[in-house]
Amino acid sequence: MKKRDINSTDCVHSGTEPDSATFSLNPPVVHSAPFSFPNTASLVAFAEGRSDRTQAEYGRMSNPTVKGVEKRLAALEGAEQAQLFGSGMSAVTTMLLALLGSGDHILLTSDSYRRTRDFGVFLAKFGIEMTVVAPTADAIEQGIQTNTKLVFTEIPTNPYLRCVDLEKVVAITRKPGILVVADSTFATPINLRPLDLGVDLVIHSATKYFGGHNDLIAGVMAGPERLIQPISELLMTLGGICDPNTAFLLGRGLKTLSLRVARQNDSGQRVAEFLEGHPRIEKVFYPGLPSHPDHGTAERLMKGFGGVVTFLVDGDFDATARFIDRLEIPRIAPSLGGVESLIEQVAIMGFWNLPREERESLGIPDNLVRIALGIEEPEDLIADLTQALSAS
Ligand SMILES: Cc1ncc(COP(=O)(O)O)c(C=O)c1O
Repeated sequence: MKKRDINSTDCVHSGTEPDSATFSLNPPVVHSAPFSFPNTASLVAFAEGRSDRTQAEYGRMSNPTVKGVEKRLAALEGAEQAQLFGSGMSAVTTMLLALLGSGDHILLTSDSYRRTRDFGVFLAKFGIEMTVVAPTADAIEQGIQTNTKLVFTEIPTNPYLRCVDLEKVVAITRKPGILVVADSTFATPINLRPLDLGVDLVIHSATKYFGGHNDLIAGVMAGPERLIQPISELLMTLGGICDPNTAFLLGRGLKTLSLRVARQNDSGQRVAEFLEGHPRIEKVFYPGLPSHPDHGTAERLMKGFGGVVTFLVDGDFDATARFIDRLEIPRIAPSLGGVESLIEQVAIMGFWNLPREERESLGIPDNLVRIALGIEEPEDLIADLTQALSAS
């Protein structure tokens, strides 16, 4: 069961206080690579861990603007700690490298962000094995090996918006002590808080709903200090950190997260229902529809179903492209979760380097379309879809 619903008050206020030095309501953007010490004795005390100073000596280790946003993100996810990264992929790769070692095995659910899956090839160079299984608790249970250390799943997945039963996955993995990591980018803590379900770590591409304005790249990981700490340590070495300007924009975006996601949930449901009833649409994938294979799980675990709708146009590659080109509101672009609606023919965006047969074997047919709804009026979006479908 969900333990806590996050609302707009949390998004605006949680983890934030007016700056104690300047009294500014909004956090100052602290531009400094080094952070100085008043004298040598204080540097020695800091180096020996005897100082109560919380600011590290160098900006790759920490930054006050970044830390403020991390506090808010930890509060929103119900986590002891959060760590910001320079991108969602920096969060994913740093976490895997920090927690896995040679001889370990990781289970990744299919229908996941392609670069996360591709990282398995890199991990193999270090003796870490990755197996990709269907996004269901049963497939995960069957895929567990004696050396399985970590299960990684997205929820909802991309592009088919599968929702793995995280409660079941946690129950399956608890006894053998396997870590469960959820990439909850498509859900946000407004719709789902994986840590409340017993998941060990939650990851987001903060580029998406958290930033919310299609104007920044960042990543975040939240969880218990004992897991975040070794990941943060490795981040200080790998260096894929979030800079203070980006952190400021992210913190500002977070204030409207609840409002934006409420609109995107509403538009998602309405657009999905509209498309499902349209004769020019072959099939719609949206967890808020009873026709979705994980509708029951999504209803049980989630407060809303998000702003991404995936569907098959009744037509070939060219007919699908013509339909997309006729749309006036959504822009053709990757990404999701921002204020502008974005649309993509999935076969082209991210899979165009593969031959058609290989794309199809990965479940990416030519007529598959993903629309990531922004905050425009749902009536306007539906009118635009109507004109584009009737004309093509
Ligand atoms: C579910 C998911 N996780 C991770 C990422 C990677 O995030 P970023 O683009 O911020 O590196 C993406 C990017 O699209 C994503 O969709």
